[in-house]
Amino acid sequence: MASSFIVLLGPPGAGKGTQAEVLTDKLGLPHISSGDIFRENLKKQTELGQKAQVYMNRGELVPDDLTIAMIHERLSQPDAARGAILDGFPRTPAQAEALAKMLGEMGGQVKVVPYIAVPDQELIERLSGRWTCRSGGHVYHEKNNPPKVAGKCDVDGSVLYQREDDRPETVSNRIRVYSQQTAPLIEYYHSHGLLAEVDGTKPISQVTDEMLKTVQEHLK
Ligand code: AP5
Repeated sequence: MASSFIVLLGPPGAGKGTQAEVLTDKLGLPHISSGDIFRENLKKQTELGQKAQVYMNRGELVPDDLTIAMIHERLSQPDAARGAILDGFPRTPAQAEALAKMLGEMGGQVKVVPYIAVPDQELIERLSGRWTCRSGGHVYHEKNNPPKVAGKCDVDGSVLYQREDDRPETVSNRIRVYSQQTAPLIEYYHSHGLLAEVDGTKPISQVTDEMLKTVQEHLK
């Protein structure tokens, strides 16, 4: 059977990372987040990390050629052979075309694209209250999803920090960039019969229930 890929689509702060953690758990597929891979490279000060940092700090997209090569490398690792939950990739029509080509070559296909819809004002509130775990990237919110102990990750006990690109001026630019460069993918995946809109304004557990139902229907 062709391996199954799920593409999570939605604006910055919609809840892609939050939901990907649950889907990974329930479906046993790896969570591949382009943003997490860039941040990991940045932490290790690799050449890719240093190049990406310039764009990330401005809230702009890292150029397609760098991003596509990075994902190509990640998808060629053995754990992605059965499929994966893709979070933050693709983000441009060129990336979507590149993904279709990569999956074609590896005998995989995108099975469903849950689109998590959330209005802009709510996104700003979510990103300004977000705390992220330093080692595993687990995500919290100071009001909506607080850790059991302030400043510490429930999963691995590591320190929580606020992302550099969650500063208000960078967040506004990320939302603008999303509308201009990524939102066209809503129509792209709709026209391929893969889009499944999920109301992302509901509480996290309700979004998860809706998302799981949709995903499981498409994986049958
Ligand atoms: P990336 O790391 O992908 O960031 P993003 O897409 O902007 O998404 P976020 O991680 O900010 O949000 P999310 O949707 O995962 O929300 P979360 O679950 O954390 O990218 C960062 C940068 O890397 C980009 O700007 C770009 O420079 C570069 N990059 C990455 N991929 C690229 C690509 N493909 N091409 C080019 N450049 C790329 O939730 C947010 C907060 O809300 C949390 O605090 C959470 O607890 C809370 N929350 C979640 N769900 C709910 C809910 N239902 N109700 C209330 N609160 C909620």
